[in-house]
Amino acid sequence: MDRKEGSAPRIASRSRHLAMSAIKEMSILSAKVPDAASLAWGLPSFRTPAPIREAVAKALGDDPAIGMYALPGGLPELCEAVAEEHARRTGIRVDPEKQVTITAGNMEGLNALFHVLVEDGDEVIVTDPGFVSHISQIEFCGARPVFWPMREDRGWDLDLDDLEPLITPRTKAIVLVSPSNPTGRILDEATLRGVAAIAARHGVLVVVDDPYSPFIYDNRDRFFNLASAPELADTVVYLFTFSKAYAMSGWRVGYMICTEEIRTQMVKVHDLTMICTPRISQVAALAALRSEPAHLAEFSTILDRRRGLICARLDAMGHVFDYARPEGAYYVFPRVRVGDGDDVAFAHRLLSDVHVTVTPGSAFGPSGRNHVRMAYCVADDVINRAFDRMEKAFPGG
Ligand SMILES: Cc1ncc(COP(=O)(O)O)c(C=O)c1O
Repeated sequence: MDRKEGSAPRIASRSRHLAMSAIKEMSILSAKVPDAASLAWGLPSFRTPAPIREAVAKALGDDPAIGMYALPGGLPELCEAVAEEHARRTGIRVDPEKQVTITAGNMEGLNALFHVLVEDGDEVIVTDPGFVSHISQIEFCGARPVFWPMREDRGWDLDLDDLEPLITPRTKAIVLVSPSNPTGRILDEATLRGVAAIAARHGVLVVVDDPYSPFIYDNRDRFFNLASAPELADTVVYLFTFSKAYAMSGWRVGYMICTEEIRTQMVKVHDLTMICTPRISQVAALAALRSEPAHLAEFSTILDRRRGLICARLDAMGHVFDYARPEGAYYVFPRVRVGDGDDVAFAHRLLSDVHVTVTPGSAFGPSGRNHVRMAYCVADDVINRAFDRMEKAFPGG
């Protein structure tokens, strides 16, 4: 139905101005190309481990409540198991009732959290490059993402000296991901503690979005979890997701650890969005925490092998791509050395001409211009097919 002349547009500007995530846009386009070799989406090739699937099958048969709502904050037994897991991983004991929220994955957790934290016109600092959806989520809440450039010439390290000048009275939070999506860079302890010290001095929160800490291949001793510093309990909000570590991306489940003050607000927004994380996914998450994570070593070994493969293939295409070797996660973020610097056009041409899908780097922030992100969590065969085609398209290595 057409709107009457002079009446307000049917679709709110908040939504009209929201761009589809470039990762999903490329994946949607890629799905229309039957033989596309896609490195666009960080969707691991792994199956959810058997003990988790078996526990869910049993609950479907035995638990009369399995199809029912749960209370918004999460199943008490899962919150307790999360508190125990958090203590194992960080040495910090949190109150399962007051500090743990079971989210429908970090994406939903962050969206709810930003709604809790920001007013129109507030600012949230993100790394540049950083995760595409953080940028949109911040804008969708009426706030402004402020970009903190990673130093490509130093393997995508962050420089603490660059941070403080970005903080204003409107800054509410700094979002960090380590190892990083899209660069695979680990943020070291000194940097993280430095960020937290600056944040605490200005009353700003540090939001740690952690999908990838189980996947570190080099320099594991550089990794540090800010949530393990007891003195930062009021400064750090920590979000972990089962999506990657347990190959559970479709289950939509994660958890958030924060102060009671934030959790009280968080649960209201989570309720408004989801009512609850699907009970069946919470049962799956509980099974994940109760079973031996034997799959992790296997996933890591396979991902490390794929990292070796993609780096070798990139090395052989040095005339097209220039890159820093990732230390963790499963992404690499090469600079494109050919063409006119338009990474969006490059990615679209690659798909239409040679049926290879990558994500344009500019979607990850201004520093991503003239880069592309490649996800190497897909089968070796997909990586090889993509590079065979690109080598043919760009001869002369
Ligand atoms: C940095 C980052 N945050 C959040 C997510 C989404 O996680 P979830 O599946 O838990 O919503 C991803 C997925 O790729 C990610 O890379």
